[in-house]
Amino acid sequence: MSADETPARVDAPENAGLVLDGVHLRHGDGGETVQALDDVSLTVPPGRLVAIVGPSGAGKSSLLAVAGGLTRPDRGTVTVAGYDMTAAGRRRRAALRREHIGFVFQSGNLIPALTAADQLRLPLYFRPRRARTGRDPLELLADVGMADKRDRYPHQLSGGERQRVGIARALATAPSVLLVDEPTAALDRARSHDIVRLLAAETRRRSVATVMVTHDHEVLEHCDTVYEMVDGRLTRAI
Ligand SMILES: Nc1ncnc2c1ncn2[C@@H]1O[C@H](COP(=O)(O)OP(=O)(O)O)[C@@H](O)[C@H]1O
Ligand SMILES: [Mg+2]
Repeated sequence: MSADETPARVDAPENAGLVLDGVHLRHGDGGETVQALDDVSLTVPPGRLVAIVGPSGAGKSSLLAVAGGLTRPDRGTVTVAGYDMTAAGRRRRAALRREHIGFVFQSGNLIPALTAADQLRLPLYFRPRRARTGRDPLELLADVGMADKRDRYPHQLSGGERQRVGIARALATAPSVLLVDEPTAALDRARSHDIVRLLAAETRRRSVATVMVTHDHEVLEHCDTVYEMVDGRLTRAI
């Protein structure tokens, strides 16, 4: 693997979205090691919502960390929007992440002191001025049904509403890839369906390649493809 700072652009349209190819990741060093990802290959085209189910400890979060360039795999490649993340150096990888990847976590991970609208402005603020082209925060909040609550702080929102703001924030930079970790873990059944339906709709409307990790088999009906992960190995489930 090269540590080249300038990742190659692969222009073939079939390479858009997210591609993991032969990815291996081992956690820990020395005695106690865990094979978190064992030869994982996965292609998520733009506009598709892929779900990954599997027991706790199976490697689902590790897969998202590798797909998002937060963790470098021991072997294999990760391509995001045609850019080889695994060939990029640390700084370049961070730039690719800001530019092309949105993350949504279990609880929405909102900042307590910011209003809903300001949560969405924050990721844009951290971009170079020339690249501040994301979506209009207020329009995005309207898309997720939160326009009337734009001046509320997280403690003034329900769990489902916080998750909506978290999704809108992840989309604010117009990412190519959306990585979603257990978005319904803290929600009741009706709210869970609402949130995954929203994810599916935004995925299609914005042509994002979305990977959602979940324990929740109830919501799989809204997903295009379902994979199962067990002991670091990914298999097609449905
Ligand atoms: N940073 C880490 N250091 C050491 N082991 C880790 C680390 N992150 C995860 N693991 C281990 O790797 C395995 C996969 O974890 P994880 O990807 O979080 O699974 P899941 O999200 O499916 O519950 C587990 O055995 C976990 O304990
Ligand atoms: Mg996890």
